[in-house]
This record gives sequence, structure tokens and C-alpha cells, in this order.
Amino acid sequence: MRFVITAGPTREYLDAVRFLSNPSTGKMGFAVAEAAARAGHEVVLVAGPVQLKTPPKVVRIDVTSAREMMQAVKESLTPDSVLVATAAVADFRPKAQAKRKLHKTEMPRTIELTPNPDILARAKSRFKVGFAAETDDLIKSAASKCARKHLDMIVANDVTRPGAGFATDTNEATFLFPDGHEERQPLMAKKRLARKIIERISQWS
Ligand code: PMT
Repeated sequence: MRFVITAGPTREYLDAVRFLSNPSTGKMGFAVAEAAARAGHEVVLVAGPVQLKTPPKVVRIDVTSAREMMQAVKESLTPDSVLVATAAVADFRPKAQAKRKLHKTEMPRTIELTPNPDILARAKSRFKVGFAAETDDLIKSAASKCARKHLDMIVANDVTRPGAGFATDTNEATFLFPDGHEERQPLMAKKRLARKIIERISQWS
């Protein structure tokens, strides 16, 4: 199978040096890419700004902003691909972007934001897997994203749990399916969770 995987954060620049972003390191997404490639799949990894080495046999496309990530996904995705969206994409970007560094005196006191496109919701592919990073109401919020973005599976992680979520080597998650079926995964290495995700996709797609 062909996999397109998004990973890491996006950066939404306000000027040449200042941006909105989040603490994603790409560890979860790179682990999924590695697991898919090891299982013999063709893998394209669309990565935001992260400090990780590309896993063997993975084609990597580096991007910075959500709009660049969307373009790279659009160009990589074929109708028979599996899309796994682990990236923490910024939902909004500053409406105005200065090409140079703004002086302190020029800085706006209020930053007007405009919505970014939802890459996962717009994508059309054979099987779509999303991730949900939540701080409360984990299952309810993740199930609603699963339905709203027309997903075949969503991996819900509570990013307030110790050892789970952003920048850790481990994660604790629940796999959710559109029919309401839930599979709880205990705390484990992100690499192990990634293998389980790939196994699950291979069974369902
Ligand atoms: O990178 P790590 O440090 O290892 O951290 C891993 C992680 C916490 C980033 C990862 O496990 C995770 O939860 N990723 C999803 C984070 C997120 O942005 O969730 P969300 O609930 O905001 O988005 C839901 C889904 O829609 C995600 O699959 C996201 O990639 C996708 N999305 C969101 C917004 C947008 N504009 N386009 C999208 O494709």
C-alpha cells in the first residue's frame, strides 16, 4: 500500500522571525512512517519543522506552514493511498505577514487571525486516519472529529497524561472507529503504538 503521513508542527509566521506554533516534535509521525516502511509499504512523510532523521526507505517532504503541508499532501496523495495525519497543524495563521522583522514599536498589540485549511477533512483517499490531541472530553471530542472529517479511524490521545502526547517517547491512546468501536491502548513506546496503528490499518483497509 501507499502511505502519506503528516508529522510535526506547522509554523505560521507573523514576520520574518516570529511565528505561532506548538510543541510537536514529529516523534509520533516519524514512528508511524518507520513502522509503515518496515512493513513493506511505500511511504511519503510530509514533515513540519522537526529535528529528526528520516527513517530508512521513506520519502520525506519538508514544509513549514499549514498551507505548504496541504499542498504537499495534495501532490502526494493518490485515491488508493492511506493518509495518516499525526501532524499538529495550526488551525489559524496571522492575517498579515511581514517579510522582514518588525521593530518592537511596529508590533501590533492584537494579532488578527485567519483560519487555515483543514488538510485531513479536505483529503480524499482510500483510508483516512486522524489523530486527536485533547485536554478534556477525550472520547467525545475525538469521535466528533472522526465524524466531521469523515475518518475511517482516529487515534485519540490525552496530551495532559504523563508520558503521553507532545515531545515524549511514549504515548497512551484510544483507537476509535466511525461505528463507535473503541480500543484502548496502554502507555507504550510511540514506536510500538505506531506498529499497532499500521497493523490495525492493514486489517481494516
Ligand atoms: O509530534 P509529537 O511530539 O510526537 O506529538 C505527537 C502529537 C501529540 C502531535 C500527536 O500524537 C497528535 O495528537 N497529533 C494530532 C494533533 C492535532 O493537531 O490534533 P487536532 O485535534 O487539532 O487535529 C485533528 C486532526 O486533524 C489531526 O489528525 C490533524 O493532523 C488534522 N488537522 C488539523 C487541523 C488542520 N488544519 N489540518 C489537519 O489536517
